[in-house]
Amino acid sequence: MRVAMLTGGGDCPGLNAVMRAVVRKGERQYGDELVGFRDGWKGVLEGTVVPMDVEMMRGTLPRGGTIIGSSRTNPYKEQDGPARVRASLEEHGIDALIAIGGEDTLGVAHRLAQEGLPIVGVPKTIDNDLSGTELTFGFDTAVQICVDAIDRLHTTAESHNRVMVVEVMGRHAGHIAVWSGIAGGATITLIPEEPFDIEAVCEAIRHRHADGRRLASIVVIAEGAVPKEGTMALQSGEVDAFGHVRLGGIGTVLAEEIEARTGFETRVTTLGHVQRGGTPTAFDRVLATRFGVAAIDAVHDGAWDTMVALQGGDIVRVPLEEAVGSLKLVDPDLYDVARVFFE
Ligand code: F6P
Repeated sequence: MRVAMLTGGGDCPGLNAVMRAVVRKGERQYGDELVGFRDGWKGVLEGTVVPMDVEMMRGTLPRGGTIIGSSRTNPYKEQDGPARVRASLEEHGIDALIAIGGEDTLGVAHRLAQEGLPIVGVPKTIDNDLSGTELTFGFDTAVQICVDAIDRLHTTAESHNRVMVVEVMGRHAGHIAVWSGIAGGATITLIPEEPFDIEAVCEAIRHRHADGRRLASIVVIAEGAVPKEGTMALQSGEVDAFGHVRLGGIGTVLAEEIEARTGFETRVTTLGHVQRGGTPTAFDRVLATRFGVAAIDAVHDGAWDTMVALQGGDIVRVPLEEAVGSLKLVDPDLYDVARVFFE
């Protein structure tokens, strides 16, 4: 078979590990010819194809990002997009397409598969908010980066008796915030799922510093977290082809508000794209490799319109519809674990 891959949406560590596994099993065990479309759906629309083989993939296992590039292009927002996708696959003799992406990329994959195209999905997002899979690769790496940063912020915050606000990624769901808040010993963690009460946040900080002890307070906030009652405005930003506003900035607003209300010196660190860069953890390398192997198996089983997923420790296939129907939010029980440590 001639099998194509694409990586869409925000990049994350482990994308190359997935493709390396697809190529290795596809080429060596199935005798496939593998290619990649450059820059996600954009490359399919424009017909930019690169050959991919075992030699080319050497050395890519520990490499972050994606060697074939990514974009947030949405074919359904382009003139004749779906028809152009179909024509491109035919022109390049593609028998199957493996789409590696999050809700947007896989949402497109699902619609195209419904229209009869041979597509299999692989779940990717550091936000870990895709349904149908317990984890996505890249998430573990992002959390580790956040925890390393929080550990460092603790010591400088203690030295200056300061409050440190740490803004992490998480547009609609606070998985990164909750995991890194628990692992990093945060004083408070704020997530998109639960609008926060700014006065309650300040009261917790006042209480923690009440007896004059030299304590640091670490407040972890997901970029998509919102205050209750619209008391602190979100920054407006550009909107991408999938209608998402570019976030970033809630941490700064929160830090200013905490300092103004409590009088405690407050600093903000926005971790931003540092969370998405660099080498994947061992866990993510293994998960990505398992997904890649499962994806090429799914192709040879003709399991179109499905996504490979992690459930109960096993790699399974779920309908793409299940994956993109609704977002996977933070389990309230896990947030309650974080809450135990809120002052
Ligand atoms: O891929 C998800 C994500 O990392 C979100 O957490 C974040 O809001 C967004 O991507 C950032 O997108 P971009 O890299 O396009 O600025």
